[in-house]
Amino acid sequence: MTGDTPFSWRRALVTGGAGFLGSHLCEQLLDSGVEVDCADNLACGRRENIAQLQDRPGFRYVHGDVCDPECAERLPGPYDLVLHFACPASPTDYLRMPLQTLDVGSLGTRNALTIAERDGARFLLASTSEVYGDPLVHPQHEGYWGNVNPVGPRSVYDESKRFAEALVTAHAGTHGTDAGIVRLFNTYGPRMRAHDGRAVPTFICQALAGEPLTVTGDGSQTRSLCFVDDTVDGILRVAASKSVRPVNIGGSDEITMADLARRVVALTGSRSPIAFVDRPVDDPGRRRPDTTLARELLGWSPQVPWEEGLKQTIAYFAARPPEPVPRPEDMAPQS
Ligand SMILES: NC(=O)c1ccc[n+]([C@@H]2O[C@H](COP(=O)([O-])OP(=O)(O)OC[C@H]3O[C@@H](n4cnc5c(N)ncnc54)[C@H](O)[C@@H]3O)[C@@H](O)[C@H]2O)c1
Repeated sequence: MTGDTPFSWRRALVTGGAGFLGSHLCEQLLDSGVEVDCADNLACGRRENIAQLQDRPGFRYVHGDVCDPECAERLPGPYDLVLHFACPASPTDYLRMPLQTLDVGSLGTRNALTIAERDGARFLLASTSEVYGDPLVHPQHEGYWGNVNPVGPRSVYDESKRFAEALVTAHAGTHGTDAGIVRLFNTYGPRMRAHDGRAVPTFICQALAGEPLTVTGDGSQTRSLCFVDDTVDGILRVAASKSVRPVNIGGSDEITMADLARRVVALTGSRSPIAFVDRPVDDPGRRRPDTTLARELLGWSPQVPWEEGLKQTIAYFAARPPEPVPRPEDMAPQS
């Protein structure tokens, strides 16, 4: 299988491989001739995301929790690449699973690192722009330490990722692990869930249903969106590099949430109005990556224009039956 791969890896482990980004990574690796083990506990991923991969040679789905101490035994490898992407990533998910989110950043990251060290594999942690918190520096470069409220509601996610980054750095320093960190900014595209609470699927599904688009606060807060194909390309470039430094991967198109809602209304041809609702606590006001490092180190920059990315994402949701709205009792924090 490795004959025409542009990468030198033979077999990769993708934790969280049944999720949004993980499933695209599994697919891209397989397309590149790399065999893939996809490990997931389906806490917030879906088997349908990987259904088209199930019968492909070299693909294996392993159901399990990466926090499980016996995780390594269930994933014998050997791997030459470990992409650690398992983690609840949307606010609705990590607020519903606060303790599990902290566990997967700590225990899960440690187990995934152990597997990489066992096999001498390159390891890559999926970190996040949330390590910068509500940033006081704009745009955010990798040298910025961030502005995170350690006891705010978002801290379970932000601090889980910050701890995971510290763990990766300590393993690289003490064991010589070939480990990197990619700090991902907001990514969107097909295979997101309709009700995961992130702005793009929320707005698209509301517009398609003819419902008001619920913009939080006054809608002036910004995000810089990146289409999934560009993010996956950036992740694999960081993985293929020898970089031990964190690398930002994210879009250059900084947009207010109110403008994003207007773009979605225009592209869907919807007649939905925009409704302003309460803004979540500690919601970052501005967000844009400084991607100088990715450009200079990896030759990476986003290629997909926002109209094209949004059209593909709208087409994905338009072709699916509407997903049921979760009941309030299903959204309550789990112990
Ligand atoms: N999508 C983004 O915009 C974005 C931005 C920054 C960082 N990230 C990071 O990228 C990764 C993937 O994000 P995503 O958007 O694809 O989220 P996602 O929720 O779609 O995927 C996460 C996957 O991890 C799995 N998972 C969670 N806990 C697990 C555990 N203990 N054991 C095994 N599997 C587990 C889930 O079932 C799910 O399939 C996450 O680590 C996230 O923090 C994503």
